[in-house]
This record gives sequence, C-alpha cells and structure tokens, in this order.
Amino acid sequence: METVTTVAAVRERAREWRREGRRIAFVPTMGNLHAGHVSLIEAAARHGDRFVASIFVNPMQFGPNEDFAHYPRTPREDERMLAAAGCHLMFLPDVAEIYPRGLERSVRIEVPELSTILCGQFRPGHFEGVATVVTKLFHIVEPDMAVFGEKDYQQLTVIRRLVADLCMPVEIVAAPTVRESDGLAMSSRNRYLTPAERQVAPRIFEELGRAAARLASGDSDFAGIEGAGTAALESAGLRPEYFSVRTRDLGPPSPHSRELVVLAAARLGRARLIDNVQVTR
Ligand code: PAF
Repeated sequence: METVTTVAAVRERAREWRREGRRIAFVPTMGNLHAGHVSLIEAAARHGDRFVASIFVNPMQFGPNEDFAHYPRTPREDERMLAAAGCHLMFLPDVAEIYPRGLERSVRIEVPELSTILCGQFRPGHFEGVATVVTKLFHIVEPDMAVFGEKDYQQLTVIRRLVADLCMPVEIVAAPTVRESDGLAMSSRNRYLTPAERQVAPRIFEELGRAAARLASGDSDFAGIEGAGTAALESAGLRPEYFSVRTRDLGPPSPHSRELVVLAAARLGRARLIDNVQVTR
C-alpha cells in the first residue's frame, strides 16, 4: 500500500488506474480504524479492483464545543490495518491540503432539510461539513463507488442526496453496522466511555430493537414508541437527544409506511452515541 498526503499524488495514481480500466472503490474515514471500518474496506473490495481510503479528521464537521482536538488520531496503526485489509492507496492529507484558503473562506455544500433534523438539530453545521469534505474527496479521488456505514444512517442519507442532486457519477454502497458482542455499535467514540458507562451503552441498541419489534408487529403509535424509547434510555442513565421513527428517507412515517428506520442519539458521560435499526413490515 502506498501512502500519500497531497491531492496531486492521489490524482496521479487514480488517473493511472483509470487509464488501465480499473474500477476505483473509495472509503472516506476519520481514522482510528476498528472492525467497523474494516467491513467498509471489505465491502469496497467486492465492488472495485483498486481501493483508496482517506484518513482526515475534518474540522468543518465539528462544532466549537465538540471533540475535534481530542478526536483519537492513530495514523500508524490505521496504516497497518488498511494495508492488511488490502487497501492500495491511503490518503492522509493535512488540513491545509483540504482547505487551502482556510475553513472560513472555503466553499460549503448545504443539503437542505436533511441536514437540520435529528443529529443536525443538535450539531448545527455538522452535515454541511460532511457534505463539503465528501464532495471535495470525491473530486480528488474520482471513485466509481464509495462505501459508507449504515451506523451513520443520516450521514448516508445526506450523501445519497448530495450525489443525486449534484449528478456525481459515484455509486454509494451502504455497509451494515458492525457491533460488539453485546450489541453496541462500533465507534471510535466508544473509547470515551468509562467501564461503568460501557456496561450501560448497549441499552441504546436494546431499546431500538424493542421499538423495531413493536413497529414490525404493526404498531403505528409512533409517538408512543418514541416516548417509551426516550424514557427507557433516561432511566438507564443516558441523556437521549432524540429517539425517532422515520421513513427510510428520514421523512415522517404514516401507518401505511412499510420501510422504516428507528434512530437514536444519546449522551453518556463524555460520549455522544448514535445508532439505528431498520424495519420492514
Ligand atoms: O463518517 C466519517 O468518518 C466522516 O463523517 C466522513 C464521512 C469520513 C467525512 O469526514
């Protein structure tokens, strides 16, 4: 695996592959890779024959009081993991390479409506930062396809809308959430949990599962299901930001909706945890 830090170097390699008729698969990440990321690389391997991964902790998607400065950065371990997973090119830019005119003067991409609901309500500007960096990365790598985890369901939905609206020729592939044995969705932020909090954290998945079972059995009391999920998380010691039943494109559900998703975000100690479960009924 080759590691490069400049836009020019990525472009050169990607163009060479394109001339050879290779199909390029791309996995954008913020690093501190775990088994969840490896599953994204494996999904990429099923769709392309050259794999690029980026590692960039994107300052634009962090709010002023969020964990940008403390976000775990482990580039050497990430490099080893990517090489072992069969990645061909690791792109490890610094902030000036991605935002050469500075964050404040950068063009920004806004995805209306989807960016201001759910997590967007609690993290203003977050999805604008995600949409902007993903657009830039897509223009740099020019992949045929890119993989995003279903754990960040709203992010996946925002990116699908972005790609459709801007007519980007990139196929978006969703990779299922990878979980610990007790159900907790894998996340770099799980390392913020104390051992006691770590015991409580799987309650999110448990309550999402309970809500999903009610929906699957035909229950359409969405407000009741959301209220029960919120109350259960609170009584377990979490501080829920939302517990919400939505259609798969994150619209409001109706009793006739067949394809649903239940999403939750909750704070636990220093960590902010998100998860979701899809339901078909
Ligand atoms: O999911 C992530 O790790 C990030 O939001 C992404 C997509 C790499 C953009 O910075």
